[in-house]
Amino acid sequence: MADLPDHDPAIDALDDETRRRLGELWRERAVTEMGAGWAFAQVVTELYALGADGEVLALATRGAHDEVRHARLCAHLASVYLGEPVEARPPKSIAMPAHEGANERTRMQLHVVGLAVSETLAAGFLQACLAVCEAELPTRIARSHLEDDIAHARVGWAHMASKAFAPDRAAVKPWVPKLIEANLRHWRSRIAELPVVPAHGYPEHDALTSALEETARDVLVPGFRHVGL
Ligand SMILES: [Fe+2]
Ligand SMILES: [Fe+2]
Repeated sequence: MADLPDHDPAIDALDDETRRRLGELWRERAVTEMGAGWAFAQVVTELYALGADGEVLALATRGAHDEVRHARLCAHLASVYLGEPVEARPPKSIAMPAHEGANERTRMQLHVVGLAVSETLAAGFLQACLAVCEAELPTRIARSHLEDDIAHARVGWAHMASKAFAPDRAAVKPWVPKLIEANLRHWRSRIAELPVVPAHGYPEHDALTSALEETARDVLVPGFRHVGL
């Protein structure tokens, strides 16, 4: 990528196996980020349908764009670890959570709420990765993802505080604990599969799990209280 080096001495210094493992993980991450972009784009259209504020629409549209950039950054990092070109490709399909039992409008609101939850937790995860990462290239990429994910979470929080959300607040409220729990479950199983390579941004699993739990307790819970949920 234009503004990023295509070498990192810390990556060159790794043994082959770790280097391949991390490279494959970044290749998968590129697919996940494309999936996030796809889902974000869907949320953008739902925000239009919900009558969201112009400011929220602008932030959300930028978020959909950011995820494609994240995917390309991850593919770049994968190519540096693997020593071969890697292209960012989207997954075959994505499925938005069905939230069975919710009507269409509530389901769309829940997708926006879900975005706030997943992006807030992603920011907590990235902070824990950055706290231990020493290699330059993964640090630069994680830092830029973190900045963006804070802005992405704000899309959800700003919308929940807006007029376009107010009529549906009561219908959404009972879903919130389930939504947080489902996200934490997803992250826990993801963490269990990760290697531990702190200097390359893969901390001990306990550190990641506590970072997520702290984020849920210190950011999500007060955040939801603040917007009346
Ligand atoms: Fe992302
Ligand atoms: Fe994001």
